[in-house]
Amino acid sequence: MSNKRPEDMQRISTAAQAEKYIDEQVAAIREQVGDKKVLLALSGGVDSSVVAALLIKAIGSQLQCVHVNHGLMRKGESEMVIDVFRKQLKANLVYVDATDRFLDKLEGVADPEQKRKIIGGEFIRVFEEEARKFEGIEFLAQGTIYPDIIESGPVKAHHNVGGLPEDMKFELVEPIKLLFKDEVRVVGKALGLPDAMVYRQPFPGPGLGVRCLGAITRDRLHSLREADAILREEFEKAGLSGRVWQYFTVVPDFKSTGVRDGKRSYDWPVIIRAVNTVDAMAATVEELEWPLLHKITDRILSEVPGVSRVLYDLSPKPPATIEWE
Ligand code: XMP
Repeated sequence: MSNKRPEDMQRISTAAQAEKYIDEQVAAIREQVGDKKVLLALSGGVDSSVVAALLIKAIGSQLQCVHVNHGLMRKGESEMVIDVFRKQLKANLVYVDATDRFLDKLEGVADPEQKRKIIGGEFIRVFEEEARKFEGIEFLAQGTIYPDIIESGPVKAHHNVGGLPEDMKFELVEPIKLLFKDEVRVVGKALGLPDAMVYRQPFPGPGLGVRCLGAITRDRLHSLREADAILREEFEKAGLSGRVWQYFTVVPDFKSTGVRDGKRSYDWPVIIRAVNTVDAMAATVEELEWPLLHKITDRILSEVPGVSRVLYDLSPKPPATIEWE
């Protein structure tokens, strides 16, 4: 498959078009791979999940998935990957809980770019170590999509094949590389993936690491994860989860005074961010209803440890970015 989308390629927007695309790709994958084995880093994001489901349909147990939990996933995310792929789709899936490894490496590191570098570098090392444990794998599947090709060359940055050592040369399998994001979702739905996976909001590769500001600590990361889970749950209940483009919480690395049980406390604030955008280059803030903001605030203050204030970030992009780091 060339890296250029043919001018006459139809947009995939219906289930029937998706089925046709799936049939074509299943045949193409079988033709390319034969009886050989394929390795895939399965993050749980839309793209790698759709690639996994396509490959399972095409070659079943010849696919070997590796899910690396870097300890910066949202609440329940790794569990969902395991449940969907291992239990429901019967995939060969190795689950690597590398939480301690990542958090130990990140200890005391406050610089945002340094944090990103450590997370990206460590991800490649963990994946490489796992890849070396398998024998006879000749292919590497990637969730490259068309915007990745147009914007940044042919290799998906966070699945950095270029970062793997010379003696680990794989031939690439990239069955969705000519698709736009909305088409990937239609194909994912037709493959039977759950809505929570197919319509997932964007989530940065470094995960909660860029939302636990400054040097990450385990207790602050725990509070961030719990607050984020409450926000997602309340958005879901309010019918906002499919409508608001991206929404999350942030916990900064400073404290403020409060009062708890009649005593003075010194706790973190939680910042809520909810934005809408078309291309992530510019974004506007979602105008949340007061009752919903109050409900989320009450739940965070009563259920999340170490937190005494909740703030709503009203800043558009520009001048603010969507993420805080
Ligand atoms: P910003 O913060 O630059 O974010 O306005 C724009 C979009 O990109 C996502 N983002 C990232 N995604 N790795 C990623 O995979 C990153 O390091 C990263 N930083 C930001 C962000 O969530 C938003 O959707």
